[in-house]
Amino acid sequence: MAIQFVTGNEGKVREARTYLEGIDAVEQVSYAYTEVQSDDLGEIAARGAEEAFDGLGSENPVLVDDSGLFVDALGGFPGPYSAYVEDTVGVERLWRLAEGEENRRAHFRTVLAYCDGERTETFVGSVGGTLVAPRGEGGFGYDPIFEYNGRTLAEMDTDEKNAISHRGRALAAFAEWLADV
Ligand code: IMP
Repeated sequence: MAIQFVTGNEGKVREARTYLEGIDAVEQVSYAYTEVQSDDLGEIAARGAEEAFDGLGSENPVLVDDSGLFVDALGGFPGPYSAYVEDTVGVERLWRLAEGEENRRAHFRTVLAYCDGERTETFVGSVGGTLVAPRGEGGFGYDPIFEYNGRTLAEMDTDEKNAISHRGRALAAFAEWLADV
């Protein structure tokens, strides 16, 4: 049995394979599921996984990943709207919004939703850090403005980032659960 990871991002699939090594094959599939309007990443991911499972018409289970950056001083903004905000306002301007705040704490969160037609399970991973002026060339998205233990995620190599990242932690929880079912 293979798991169908619904994503356009090959990097996410590669990362999933490293966590699920020896358990299952992970296949990258495209499916444009509806992103429901919700403040809750878990609901967005779970509904997406159920729709993709039905729409893909395969017996193989489906995995969907939804992530976001939550800034404490901005009431959790951009949260579930992180992709939209990155595309419109951009990372640099989000930093400028946070720059004037005394509290620059933020966290990334990923929810992975698994659906096999009988059950839908979600797995959460998060990492806390501090927003800083952009530094570093690696990573993607908000990585240059998110500092963890003195370095931005864009200053870490992929393995270092995966070891502490929200997505890595959600994948680890999923892998542990999957090993027991
Ligand atoms: P997605 O749900 O993983 O596609 O991500 C939603 C938004 O959060 C996009 O704007 C991504 O660039 C951003 N994002 C997700 N994960 C990360 C990360 O690990 N580092 C930086 N930005 C991220």
